Amino acid sequence: MDLQVAIAPTKETALSDEELIREILRLKKERNAVILAHYYQYSEIQELADFVGDSLELSRRAQKTDADTIVFCGVHFMAETAKILNPTKKVLLPDLKAGCSLAESAPAEEYRRVREQLRQTYPNHVAITYINCSAEVKALSDIICTSSNAERIIRSVPEDVPILFAPDRNLGAYLQRKTGRQMILWNGTCIVHQSFSVRRIEEQLAEYPDAELIAHPECEDAILERAHFIGSTSALLRYTVESPRTTFIVATEPGIIHQMEKASPHKRFIPALPEQEGCRCSECPYMKLNTLEKLYLCLLRGEPEIHLDPALIERARLPLERMMALSQ
Ligand code: 13P
Ligand code: SF4
Repeated sequence: MDLQVAIAPTKETALSDEELIREILRLKKERNAVILAHYYQYSEIQELADFVGDSLELSRRAQKTDADTIVFCGVHFMAETAKILNPTKKVLLPDLKAGCSLAESAPAEEYRRVREQLRQTYPNHVAITYINCSAEVKALSDIICTSSNAERIIRSVPEDVPILFAPDRNLGAYLQRKTGRQMILWNGTCIVHQSFSVRRIEEQLAEYPDAELIAHPECEDAILERAHFIGSTSALLRYTVESPRTTFIVATEPGIIHQMEKASPHKRFIPALPEQEGCRCSECPYMKLNTLEKLYLCLLRGEPEIHLDPALIERARLPLERMMALSQ
């Protein structure tokens, strides 16, 4: 896959955006569907969604919905999670290629091998895995976490029990510093959060001396060290609403700025810059595969659909339910 956000994605239909929106709303009603969207989706998709949230909130919504169909405007692991938590529902993802570099960094076979090796040295270790992973890796883990509950989940494990944390090494290192807990870290990263440049963010902070830098914990340590606030996408959004500051440099995928501007129209949100000038590498190329037209087509055709083996669903559900129970 070419990892750049397409500037003008190719279209299959001749429908205008207005016509697409009208059709999406009509089909959604007809199919008794709910549209769940992550903050990194294009703003026109966020506007159409029944709910926009972070990974944990979206999982909760998917688990509780009584709609017949869940249209997940996010990435593949999020749609899979929805299917695992609510297996009788039809779960659609507008583009099945919407993956995630973190999920790709932990292939199930490699993860299984690492755990088997670890069992030799640390038979009682606990595997806490970030939700950004495949259903197979979830099934091989003990507890799942998201960026909004990871600290609490780590603290729930007794101090003398070794922890394997996968796949995000930046989030893992951040959690080690926060909790004082040493963990065995998988070596995965998010290509989007990895792209931010300390040098250019320092230039931005010098240009806007009243601005606060806010960052997602998937960013590198050098960025997090300079951040005034670190949190999940929802926590970042909440912070910008509650803070008396009026200017923020936002070190996460810029799709979230849509909600920040809606919630605080008088405040200013500046996307943090990547090293390469003119590069759109801070936009998630996977999230941005979902377009208004693909959302329409998937509602119309009832596909692409997420299919998972029922036995895999059973095995992957337990670590997710442990997470849910610890996040009340
Ligand atoms: P959140 O759970 O904070 O929304 O993060 C999801 C994600 O993929 C960040 O890159
Ligand atoms: Fe994965 Fe990074 Fe995209 Fe989030 S922003 S979905 S972690 S590639």
